[in-house]
Amino acid sequence: MNILVTGGAGFIGSHTVVALSEAGFRPVILDDFSNSEPAVLEGLNAILGFSPRFYAENCRDLDILKRVLKEESIDGVIHFAAFKSVGESMREPLKYYENNLGTLMALLEAMGDCSVPNLIFSSSATVYGEPSKLPVSETALLPAPISVYGSTKQVCETILSDQVAAGKPLKAFSLRYFNPIGAHPSAQIGELPRGVPNNLVPFITQTAAGIRQELTVFGNDYPTSDGTCIRDYIHVMDLAEAHVESLKALFGQRQPSYYEVMNVGTGQGHSVLEIINTFGEVSGKPLDYTIGERRQGDIATIYADVSKINGMLGWNAKRGMREGLEDAWRWQQSLG
Ligand code: UD1
Repeated sequence: MNILVTGGAGFIGSHTVVALSEAGFRPVILDDFSNSEPAVLEGLNAILGFSPRFYAENCRDLDILKRVLKEESIDGVIHFAAFKSVGESMREPLKYYENNLGTLMALLEAMGDCSVPNLIFSSSATVYGEPSKLPVSETALLPAPISVYGSTKQVCETILSDQVAAGKPLKAFSLRYFNPIGAHPSAQIGELPRGVPNNLVPFITQTAAGIRQELTVFGNDYPTSDGTCIRDYIHVMDLAEAHVESLKALFGQRQPSYYEVMNVGTGQGHSVLEIINTFGEVSGKPLDYTIGERRQGDIATIYADVSKINGMLGWNAKRGMREGLEDAWRWQQSLG
């Protein structure tokens, strides 16, 4: 089976390319490097022993999408290509709406024209905002979005469910990711944030590597056991494998119009201080940190109810937060 992976040179995309190949699928990458590096392709080659097919193209271009779908006899699509910075989305709303909605709409049109019905869409736990019940399940009512980025994910989910409600020949999953961490254990691919990382784990590994001066914990007065925020940190290889299982389920789905949303997390919450302390243990580099102000837009606690994906696909996260931190640190050290 031939799978188009838009954004396949990105963090989650590149690990999914590995998981797809290992499961016997043939991934075809489409990525314009707007937030990724060509070096990722070398890392993929080192892991897989071959170079996956690659198109350095933008995913909003309908003609290119149709050409790739036909040329590569694509059977299914995993759509990662999107902008993902919460802060930037608040400063540049139009850029986010244009890109994140535009890529999905072009893709749906191309898939319709080329009779490719199977799609996995990258959504995010950000759609839940501050959940009223924990662990948060897919049945939770979605609040008004907490950022433009979150808004784009909610709207994209709505587009998919509207297409299916209209009876279009589309079989789709939206996977709501919790907090991806880690890297491939070979340290050939991993997260490559541009500039100062926004996310906790890259900030920690860069601080331990001496690239950043100081780690700041954004608030320790939240209503949690140690006062710092709690998140569900999922190893990126577990997340990648969830895409493979999702694809298999889509291929086995007989209904011509079908749509489900699924959480992809571990079901376990860990506080910021737990992450920092565990990182100190696995790296042998206990980190100094200061307690700063709360970061605007952060919520206190969120972790996933994973019973739906477990029941439907038999998928469960196999790796723990500690393994994620070990792999993230190995990757950071490999960058020199
Ligand atoms: C963010 C995004 C989410 C996205 C996810 C993974 C929101 C509000 N945020 O989640 O959409 O899917 O990244 O890319 O939707 N922290 C510190 N110091 C730091 C950095 C972070 O204390 O230097 C804390 C944060 O306050 C938070 C936790 O670490 O409590 C995790 O932060 P982060 O890695 O940025 O992820 P989220 O904000 O949960």
